Amino acid sequence: MRAAELLPDAVRRLAAAGVADPTRDARRLLAFALGVSQERLILHLHDPVEDTGITKFNAAIDERARRRPLSQIIGERLFWGRSFQVTRDVLDPRPETETLVECALAEPFDTVLDLGTGSGAILLTLLAERPEAMGMGVDVSPAALAVARNNASRLGLLAEFILSDWFSDVGAQFDLIVSNPPYITAAEMPALDPEVRDWEPHLALTPGGDGLDAYRRIARGASAHLKLGGRVMVEIGPTQGRDVTQLFRDEGFQSVDIAPDMDGRDRVVRAR
Ligand SMILES: C[S@@+](CC[C@H](N)C(=O)[O-])C[C@H]1O[C@@H](n2cnc3c(N)ncnc32)[C@H](O)[C@@H]1O
Repeated sequence: MRAAELLPDAVRRLAAAGVADPTRDARRLLAFALGVSQERLILHLHDPVEDTGITKFNAAIDERARRRPLSQIIGERLFWGRSFQVTRDVLDPRPETETLVECALAEPFDTVLDLGTGSGAILLTLLAERPEAMGMGVDVSPAALAVARNNASRLGLLAEFILSDWFSDVGAQFDLIVSNPPYITAAEMPALDPEVRDWEPHLALTPGGDGLDAYRRIARGASAHLKLGGRVMVEIGPTQGRDVTQLFRDEGFQSVDIAPDMDGRDRVVRAR
């Protein structure tokens, strides 16, 4: 059987399962099963596929039809141009989180702390872009920390990763604190896409209640862990700007403002 002949049935199965872009996903999973890059798939569409390739493709399509996120099936996600390992233990790094990276890289820093580091995507991107900087990533999930450490070694970067409930085990002070904490409200959880609700770690998605608890903890602990003049920046959901800026002002922070993402939605709260 030739590679192209595998596609129509796979697309039909993904469409029937409610996958948003079944053609794109079937092609990406075919490239994955054949061990070729997405860009080169077109060159292989008329090649005969061995049985192992067919089995791997069908297994990947089965998983995607169960609404498992594509990045978990192929095991990686591109973030700021670099490949990060993604497993069921970490949040799939989102394109909108690149706004937080952009805000961070607009500031000077030699030391950076990433709270709720997950795959390590934010911290490791900052360290790759600022090779002279030192960084620490914390998470309350040991399994997420294992993925972050693996991503550091895949990228050839040095970072310290520690198990901590937000600031509880962080002793040092930093020039910059960044975080993309869980911020979905309890009420929003049932309506999320199955890819997110059923496959990503609950702990990475929501702190429960009104979605603001992690910001309360971060705003309360940040000044004790910042050097003089240091900055803290957190990703927010687009409707949380007012509440989160207020939390930082209530803790005595100055120059609190909001930066938009590429779609013009409120995305990052910055404070000093
Ligand atoms: C939205 S995910 C962000 C992951 C990664 N930084 C990113 O942007 O892709 C939030 C992360 O916070 C972690 N987390 C949740 N509660 C925490 C806590 N109490 N202390 C530290 N980390 C926590 C989760 O395990 C998860 O990895």
